[in-house]
Amino acid sequence: MPNPKIIVTGGAGFIGSHTVVSLVENGYEPIVVDDFSNSKRSVLDGLSAICGRKIPCFELDCADRAGLDRVFRETGPVAGVIHFAASKAVNESLQKPLLYYRNNLGGLLSVLEVMLAHGTRDLVFSSSCTVYGQPEKLPVTESTPIAAASSVYGATKQICEKIVEDTVASGAPLRATLLRYFNPIGAHPSARIGELPLGDPQNLAPVILQSAAGLRGPVQIYGDDWSTPDGTCIRDYIHVLDLAAAHVRSLDFMARRPEAPMVEILNVGTGRGTSVREALDAFERATGQKVASLVGPRRAGDIEQIYACVDKSAKVLGWRATRTIDDAMRDAWRWQQTLRA
Ligand code: WQD
Repeated sequence: MPNPKIIVTGGAGFIGSHTVVSLVENGYEPIVVDDFSNSKRSVLDGLSAICGRKIPCFELDCADRAGLDRVFRETGPVAGVIHFAASKAVNESLQKPLLYYRNNLGGLLSVLEVMLAHGTRDLVFSSSCTVYGQPEKLPVTESTPIAAASSVYGATKQICEKIVEDTVASGAPLRATLLRYFNPIGAHPSARIGELPLGDPQNLAPVILQSAAGLRGPVQIYGDDWSTPDGTCIRDYIHVLDLAAAHVRSLDFMARRPEAPMVEILNVGTGRGTSVREALDAFERATGQKVASLVGPRRAGDIEQIYACVDKSAKVLGWRATRTIDDAMRDAWRWQQTLRA
């Protein structure tokens, strides 16, 4: 039997590229669809080096329905889609709401319509823990109530979840797994692929890496007066390869399930909360590099703490994160050094 073909929209991005590697390692045949609006073509060279073969790629905005339809026709039977492609900068989403609604909703609508037209049943969709806002009880389970979205980006993820759920509820022949990511960090240990933040990064890990590399000043800790043990905010940082593996397990799981329609919502984190100070310590411990930090004011819109309950993903997918934050920091640092060279 030929390997099942999987369309990976946004497959040149940070999580997408690591998932492509994981798909190849697990007997799938990934086909990347990416418009390179927030990624570089050189990612494809990194993927070829790791996978030992060229990964097919179509340069296309997946919201271009006619174009996506052509990709499906040229590819032949497509077993499933992993839909990563989306705009993801929280601040930018507040300044350019229409762009975010158009890209994120338009991309998903086009993917679903083309899937249904071609009889492709299995979808893995990138959602986010941002849908929970600041939960009252920790860790968050998948039945923790959804909070009012605090950004347009967050709103698009909530609406996209609903679009998939409504499509499944209509009886359309679709099996979907909605993965709510916590905070992905790290890189492939080969240092051939990793995160490529365009412009000035806002996320903690790239800020730490760039600061340690001397590309920016000290890391500014956004407040140390939160109600947490060391006063800094808590998140659930997951190695991008563990996150990638969850996508492959989701496809395996759906292929085993004969029934369609179905939809499963799953948290993808480690189940462990780490404070900003602990993340800085992990970086120094794992890499032997010092990183300067200073305490600044709180960042507007930040939530105090969130981490996942991962019991459901363990039960449904037989999956758990296996890598530590130290592993992630070490791998990310190796990757960062290739960027400096
Ligand atoms: C992590 C922690 C900051 C930078 C974002 C998105 C969210 C979701 C996950 C995708 C926080 C602190 C950060 C810095 C700092 N993404 N920090 N100094 O806040 O969890 O959210 O990623 O769906 O939608 O908003 O991630 O990496 O920005 O911050 O002290 O220079 O690091 O306050 O506690 P966050 P982050």
